[in-house]
Amino acid sequence: MEKELIPIEEVKDTQGYGIIFIGFPVQAHSVPAKVLPFFKRLPEGQRIAFFCTHGSLRGGHLPKQALEHAFGLASKAKIMGTFGTRGKVSSHVIEALTAKAEHKAWSEEAQGAHRHPDEADLADAQEFARGIIAKVGA
Ligand SMILES: Cc1cc2nc3c(=O)[nH]c(=O)nc-3n(C[C@H](O)[C@H](O)[C@H](O)COP(=O)(O)O)c2cc1C
Repeated sequence: MEKELIPIEEVKDTQGYGIIFIGFPVQAHSVPAKVLPFFKRLPEGQRIAFFCTHGSLRGGHLPKQALEHAFGLASKAKIMGTFGTRGKVSSHVIEALTAKAEHKAWSEEAQGAHRHPDEADLADAQEFARGIIAKVGA
């Protein structure tokens, strides 16, 4: 199946899509700032699905918090589903946060993400995408 993949800051028009998948890396337990203008331009009722990568363990409350922020930002849209998986965290972020007592536990957890996303994560992502496309009939 051929789909368009567009860097989010280059999207000019969000009209006319049956479903838009929006992907982002979790940053500071939220959505990166450069994604925010895109959310504001989504047409009311536009069907969307989110996918994100994060350093935290899968299924933890921190990635969920980032997706909840995304829900709030896209409140006019119709959210069809979400998917999160682990992604490598750069060594300078790990080093900077390991030095801070309040972030030490998270940075240790995030070190375990260095081999992600792996084949299994990508297979899960594909299954997620197929499920959404089947749901919306796009
Ligand atoms: C500035 C910055 C802040 C980040 N904050 C978080 C965070 O709060 N929680 C988290 O799980 N991962 C955090 N990460 C890790 C990124 O989510 C991770 O590196 C990214 O999803 C990997 O994406 P990729 O596999 O597509 O390159 C942060 C990374 C950077 C660079």
